[in-house]
Amino acid sequence: MATPLPFAFLNGQLLPLAEARISPLDRGFLFGDAVYEVIPVYNGRPFLEPEHLMRLERSLREMSIPNPHGRDGWRRIIADLIAQNGAVDQNVYIQVSRGAEDTRNHAMPDGLTPTIFMMATPAISEDPAVIAKGVRAITIADPRWKRCDIKSTALLGNVFAKTAAVKADALEAILIADGELREGASSSVLVGLGATVYAPPYGPEILPGTTRDLCLKLAAAAGIEVCIETITEAMLLRADELMLGFATRGVIPVTQLDGKPVGTGEPGPLWKKIYSAFREYRQTVADKKEA
Ligand SMILES: Cc1ncc(COP(=O)(O)O)c(C=O)c1O
Repeated sequence: MATPLPFAFLNGQLLPLAEARISPLDRGFLFGDAVYEVIPVYNGRPFLEPEHLMRLERSLREMSIPNPHGRDGWRRIIADLIAQNGAVDQNVYIQVSRGAEDTRNHAMPDGLTPTIFMMATPAISEDPAVIAKGVRAITIADPRWKRCDIKSTALLGNVFAKTAAVKADALEAILIADGELREGASSSVLVGLGATVYAPPYGPEILPGTTRDLCLKLAAAAGIEVCIETITEAMLLRADELMLGFATRGVIPVTQLDGKPVGTGEPGPLWKKIYSAFREYRQTVADKKEA
């Protein structure tokens, strides 16, 4: 992970990241009582910003944390932070906790002022050699709670899973529960079988993915059959293609799962079509002139 860019936003103020301070009584620290978003920025322009802000609004609503800003307010702060750090390609992180309280109670208190912290990290540069070869992934039993549709900072299950992947020299851990594919530790998973791209239906078990949604839209527009249905572990293991969707990395082909080749062991034709449409779309957004 790259070193964060120098400026951050904390509770209404842009300031050097090194000067940002949060109370140790913040419920985000004590209980993981907080949500977050990550918005990629290309050429100074936030990518899929409405989709990310909509997901942030939903996460806050599901956690009964009052949303401290309207859509325009968030957009302004994001733009200010980008302007302060410079228009390099970057990922903007928004963290919102329920706030700090004077006592320590598990139950959610009313009336706290949410803590808002934002920072940015330089974009992860895409290595053409890695993209051309694909990446390794492992499967692992999903160790998480039952509300993974909320983008909460309580990420211990994801942290365990990702650590297992790194130890196995893989990029991602693909989570399995009740004999079904859920998602990656920090990505959505798309499965190619024949000429069809499959994705699991949304529900409390997985996070709605902005990259996945765009890829499926682009796939359908390119004439690829898209099927939203439960993906069994057996389907996953006989997949011709696997792809991971991350806001921070785009859409990446998985060519080895648990040490065995996926399909031919090379990035497949479905991924190639989707990746090409995704790159084109992203470039169009990055090049867009202001209205
Ligand atoms: C658990 C999980 N699922 C899916 C995703 C993919 O979502 P997005 O494409 O919006 O990054 C992420 C990304 O952070 C994630 O952490």
